[in-house]
Formats: sequence, structure tokens, C-alpha cells
Amino acid sequence: MTPESHSLTGRDLTDTDDATSSPPPGCPAHGRGPGGTHRLYGPEAEDLGALYEKMRAEHGAVAPALLHDDVPIWVVLGHSENLHMVRSPARFTRDSRVWAPLMSGEIKPDHPLSPHFAWQPICSHVEGDEHVRLRGAVTGAVSTIDYRGLRRSINRATQTLVNRFCEAGRADLVGQFADHLPMAVMCAVLGMADEYNDRIVHAARDMLKGTETAIASNQYIVDALTRLTARRRAQPEDDFTSHLISHPATLTDSEIREHLRVVLIAAYEATANLLANVLRVILTDPRFRAQLNGGQMTVPEAVEQSLWDEPPFSSILGYFAKQDTELGGQRIRKGDGLLLGIAPGNVDPRVRPDLSANMQGNRSHLAFGGGPHECPGQDIGRAIADTGIDALLMRLPDIRLDCAEDELQWTGSLASRHLVELPVRFEPRPPQETTQRSALHAVPHQRPGWLVTTPDPAATTPAPEGARPVPSTPVAPSLPDPAAGPQRSSGVWRRLVRWWRGE
Ligand code: HEM
Repeated sequence: MTPESHSLTGRDLTDTDDATSSPPPGCPAHGRGPGGTHRLYGPEAEDLGALYEKMRAEHGAVAPALLHDDVPIWVVLGHSENLHMVRSPARFTRDSRVWAPLMSGEIKPDHPLSPHFAWQPICSHVEGDEHVRLRGAVTGAVSTIDYRGLRRSINRATQTLVNRFCEAGRADLVGQFADHLPMAVMCAVLGMADEYNDRIVHAARDMLKGTETAIASNQYIVDALTRLTARRRAQPEDDFTSHLISHPATLTDSEIREHLRVVLIAAYEATANLLANVLRVILTDPRFRAQLNGGQMTVPEAVEQSLWDEPPFSSILGYFAKQDTELGGQRIRKGDGLLLGIAPGNVDPRVRPDLSANMQGNRSHLAFGGGPHECPGQDIGRAIADTGIDALLMRLPDIRLDCAEDELQWTGSLASRHLVELPVRFEPRPPQETTQRSALHAVPHQRPGWLVTTPDPAATTPAPEGARPVPSTPVAPSLPDPAAGPQRSSGVWRRLVRWWRGE
């Protein structure tokens, strides 16, 4: 574990900090722990972004750090180093049972981050054949989702949520929209639309906060999923749960319930963060709003930009070394733990020398991880964000922030950051029939995801009502389709495609 001069334990660090200007080593009131290693908790970690940059300047792409109780961890800060790690299952695993401080008992069972790394028999924590079996059942069920139907359901849920506050002329887009939409949609996807209500939203938020009522909240959700599993075993329908049950991997009832829980909670938490983040930027950054209104940016491009700038999960704890190896110039020992640094990897100056530059729909960020564990639900998350935001802006085009930008507050942890409230104002309006033609049908034809700087006449020229084409499939393809290339010079086009593919 010892690179030239560093150790994960910090005990043989040869850092040459000036003893007179440095805090006493190990002082919990300061950011640094034993040996001068940065702590990912406490005062210095209040601004994690700044801390990651300090670590990058001191150590490069992979830096030693300390978790709560001064448990050593490597933080992977580089974009390509993160990708390399997640794509090297022979060297790095998500199975925490090989983590040396856990095996030695250095990490106590009540460690505050244990919900993030405590091993469970679910696809996120297993490897090899067992991963193929469990993940195969999840991806099999995901593959049955009809995205047209999903977008209709997202649109209907958005209209219902907007109906609840449109007459008031004001709302909190976190508590009344972003926290609700993913739960309403995921309950419908799983086949338990009737379980969606304020209580289940509250339970999901509460269990993630780790408050005193978190155990009861978790139980409320587990009970709902247990009822759903029993119902669908007895009477299958055409929904995610029934397809998970009928998959040839033959998951047991407890495997079904635990995977429904992972899917529901991962989808809820990440997508709620994504919705809030994109809406905040649209409301606070005039360039963003102007680009959207002027047709120079599509909602899917705005979503992708947010996945770079504020990934809904900022890090994942963790990956673990299966053998002695090397990463980003550091010597990693078998049993070392590594933090998948999504947020720092996304701002690695080697891939983003200018952070203010528009990423123009580029999808090579780390927001969904990568390698064998790459998020299987990313298109669902994107669909909820793209369609929900589009439909919200169609209903309330005059929406504006109802507080000073610097009054906005976040709660955060090592894993993610949530906006607490997003107060907005708009002209009061009557509710709309939720069964009427969806707002999506009235969205002006959006340019394909690759056309990023030239305004599209189709997007700006008004067409007769009802005469506009309906975008029926996701509008931002993962790769530009060269066959759809417009009148651009082929050289520019080829360069764009190469850049997009990261060549
Ligand atoms: C914006 C929304 C979402 C984001 C940002 C997100 C992000 C992530 C990330 C970072 C991982 C870990 C990848 C790794 O370990 O390398 C993950 C895994 C996972 N996500 Fe998502 N996710 C989102 C939505 C969803 C949805 C809607 C589902 C529902 C199907 C889902 C299901 C899962 C599952 C089952 C895993 C574990 C996969 C495995 O270990 O093989 N996620 N997600």
C-alpha cells in the first residue's frame, strides 16, 4: 500500500509539512489526521470540492485520505483512473468483505458509513457468476420497459404534481416536485402505483437521512415491497416486478424484495437529486435558461451538463483491491479500499480544462459509474428528468426563483448532496385534466442531441398548433448517428464524433 512516500494508514508518511504552521497531527478539530493525511469528515470536508482539489494538487490522480474514525481510504480523483478501476474487475471488486480494516476489526459495526459498505447479497456487492445472475435479472426486467409508455406516465405524474400547486402561484420544487416525481414513476414501473403517496416519499427521504425513525421508515418500504412480491408471485402482470420474478435466474423472494428495494431507493434518491440540480441551474443561470429558450440547448443536454457538474451520487464507497497493484502512480495493496470519485473525476482538468465550457450532450461523465456495475437504470433516470422538466416548463414557462440565490441550502454527505428547498413563483393557473393530450405532445420539435450550437429553424419557427412532430423516443442518443449528420463539413463532423467517443 506504500507508494514512494505515502501509506494509507498515514503512519509512514514522509510529508514535509512545516511543523510550526501545521496543526498537531491527529487533532480532530483540524482537517488533517495522523501523518497529515486529509480527513473526508470534519471541518475540512465541509467543502468537499475544494478538499478534492487540494488533494489532487498534493498527490495527483489518486490520493490517500481518512474516513470517519480515521479509517484509511484511497480517493480516486482522476477521470481515467476511475474508469480504469471500475473496468478492471480482476483487480478491483465491490465486495467489501476483502477490505483489510473490516477484516481486522479496525472498522466497528456502528461505523457511520457502514450502510454504504456493509456487504449484502445484492448485485451491487457481488462479483463474477453471482453478479451475472442477479444483475441479469435486473437488466432483464429493465429491458421490458416500454419507454413511450414510461414517458406518458412521467408526463401524467408531472401534470398531477403541478395541479397540486399551480393555483397557488408559488411552490417548493424540491418538496413538491423533485422528491415526488421519481417515486410516483418508480412505484408505477414496479407495479405498485397504489402505494405512491406522501408517506412513502417521506419514508424514503427519512431512511436516507439516517434519523431516529430511519429503521421504521425502512420497514415501511420493505413491507410494501413484500406485499408486492407476494401479489405478483400469485398473479403476474406486465410490470418490472413480474419480469424480475419470472426471469430464468429464479431469484428467491428475499432476493426479489432486496433488489426491488435497491432499485426503488437508488432510483428515487439519484433522480430526485438530478431533477433538483437541473431545475436550480435553469432558474439561477441566465445563460442556461437563454440557451434552452433560444433552442441552442435541449433539456436532455441540460440534464447531461448537470450530470457532469453535480452528479447525483458524488462518490461511491467503495471498490476494494483484490491484489497488489498500481493506480494513478500510487501503489495499492491487496485489501485497500478506494472511493469511486465521481464528482472529482468529472472535473479532472485533464478532461475538462475549462469547467465553464458547455459539454454539449457529451455522456462520458462518471455519474452512472462504469464497468460491470454501471448503472442499469440510467435511461429511466434520464427519461424522468428530461420528460418531467420539459413538461414542468411547458406548464409554468414563467417560473422564477423566489429567494436570493445565496439563500439556497444543501444537506450533504460523502455520497451525495441534496438541495433543501427550491422556492419558486409563477402566475397562478387552473389545474389541467391529467388525461388530456400530454404537454409533451406540444413540445416544439427538439433537435437531435448532437446539434449543439446552431439554432434549429424547426425549434424557433412557430408551427400551427398540433402540427409539430412528437418526439417519441429519447432525443439524446448515446452516440451521434453519422447517418443523421446534417450539412456540416465532414471534417468537423468526424472530429466531433471522434471527440464524442473519447478517441
Ligand atoms: C439519475 C439517476 C441515477 C443515477 C445518477 C444512478 C447512479 C448509479 C451509480 C453511480 C451506480 C454505481 C455504479 C458502480 O458501482 O460503478 C448505480 C448502480 C445501480 N443503479 Fe443507478 N442511478 C440512477 C438511477 C437508477 C434507476 C432509475 C435504477 C432502476 C433500475 C437504478 C438501478 C441501479 C442498480 C440496480 C445498480 C447496481 C448495479 C450493479 O451493481 O450491477 N439506478 N447507479
